[in-house]
Amino acid sequence: MKTELSFSPLAQIETELLAVTAIDTQTAKGPDVKPEPVLLTSDEAVRAAAAAVLSTGEFKAAANETLLLHAPAGLKAKRLLIVGLGKKGKATVHAVRNAAGTAVRYTKPRAIRELAFALPENDSVGPLHAMCRAAAEGAIVGDFDPDTYRSERKDVSVHSFTVAAPPNADQAAVKAAFNAGVIIGDSQNFARSLVNEPGNKLTPTVFGQRAAKMAAEVGLKSEVYSTEKLHELKMGAFWSVSQGSEEPPALIVLKYEPEGVTEGPVLGLVGKGITFDTGGISIKPADNMEKMKYDMAGGAAMVGAMRAIALLKPRVRVIGIVCSAENMPDGKAQKPGDIQTAMSGKTIEIINTDAEGRLVLADGLTYARSLGATHLIDAATLTGACVVALGMINAGAFSNDDATIEKFQAGLATSGEKFWRMPLGDEYYDQIRSDIGDIKNTGGRWGGAITAAEFLHAFAEDTPWIHLDIAGLAWIEDKKPFIAKGPSGVAVRSILEWVRSYE
Ligand code: BES
Ligand code: MN
Ligand code: ZN
Repeated sequence: MKTELSFSPLAQIETELLAVTAIDTQTAKGPDVKPEPVLLTSDEAVRAAAAAVLSTGEFKAAANETLLLHAPAGLKAKRLLIVGLGKKGKATVHAVRNAAGTAVRYTKPRAIRELAFALPENDSVGPLHAMCRAAAEGAIVGDFDPDTYRSERKDVSVHSFTVAAPPNADQAAVKAAFNAGVIIGDSQNFARSLVNEPGNKLTPTVFGQRAAKMAAEVGLKSEVYSTEKLHELKMGAFWSVSQGSEEPPALIVLKYEPEGVTEGPVLGLVGKGITFDTGGISIKPADNMEKMKYDMAGGAAMVGAMRAIALLKPRVRVIGIVCSAENMPDGKAQKPGDIQTAMSGKTIEIINTDAEGRLVLADGLTYARSLGATHLIDAATLTGACVVALGMINAGAFSNDDATIEKFQAGLATSGEKFWRMPLGDEYYDQIRSDIGDIKNTGGRWGGAITAAEFLHAFAEDTPWIHLDIAGLAWIEDKKPFIAKGPSGVAVRSILEWVRSYE
């Protein structure tokens, strides 16, 4: 999909479809109360074209609700699509992101190849540049479908998407925001394309190759290591997960070093990259096991974020690490009761081989610190318990440092993603003390997302650190008007905002 930016008056835009946004200004409630949808454009021709249908009350301007008009009088566009942003006061920049995605997903299956999306002209929604960035992101995210392996895949992609900004806008600022939005949307889709790959296609080795190829394209340094390096670094926790698979592990290291930046923080991004999680000897039930191909979504988020960082060039050093392995049961697989020695020297009693994510991340966090990371963030599809706690609406966020997670939380309004801070605490750590070694890899049924986070905390130690448990959000179970069912690319945008907050 080609993306463009236009500052032409809306009525002048020649396109197959022009999308405009609307909010509902009705504040009264009741069975006979009609919605009062208002278009967020000052363009008189567009307002006139939509006036009759809007006055009927048929269209409520609910978030992502759509209404199509053909041959709108007075416009050069062949169709006018009205997309709702919701009630006045509730319409945010994120609603604009979703509306742009909705417009693309409306257009795509109808084989309409080009559309223009008019940014709302309304200060109460948000600053124009922020809406422009969000619209570009939303459109690109909306264009993605996870059907790469369908032989009858039709070329239903939208060919051209134009963001239409008001002619009197600060063009330089809007243009910069638009360019950033394209980079971010493409980076999120890059992560989604990795997550979508099945376990037989995306092995740890292939994951490493894909990351290295991307790194070369955007100018990041990259190294991909395997078994030998894990032994050399004494990554006994990471290695223990890979030892039951024929597929060698991959330790992916991406470095972003902006010229002239030799002081200040070094941010360490660590992702869980389990390309398939059978559970190992503590094998998972067959139902839904196929979903465990997305157990590398945290790693993919880091790779996607590193792509965006390389292209947006913040003035801060960043190291991206993905610990990739396949968790399989075979004659060489680790067993419950085994003791493993992590890179940090801590001994781990394996209680359940299905709690493998924390094992690979333990060594990933230690390694990031050894490379000089002063601040850490990890992302992982770590626990089913996190999904029980927060559902598929919020992902979990944990931290040992208030200032660090506050920076992360401050970026959520921009990213539009939902993360809910969860607690840590010594009392939880007590659940994972081992009688045999230093620490156990599971802490029993209660507070499972938190004991998993406390396990990681034991390896992050005092380094300011954030842990993101994205198990409930990495895969979208039901399609939405603005995004396909399948890999979500969650966390790419929020990690990026956190990184940018250190500039
Ligand atoms: N990859 C899973 C967690 C998961 C569950 C991700 C559902 C996405 C959706 C993880 O490796 C796992 O198996 N966790 C166990 C931990 C338990 C053995 C302590 C779990 O959550 O059941
Ligand atoms: Mn597991
Ligand atoms: Zn897992």
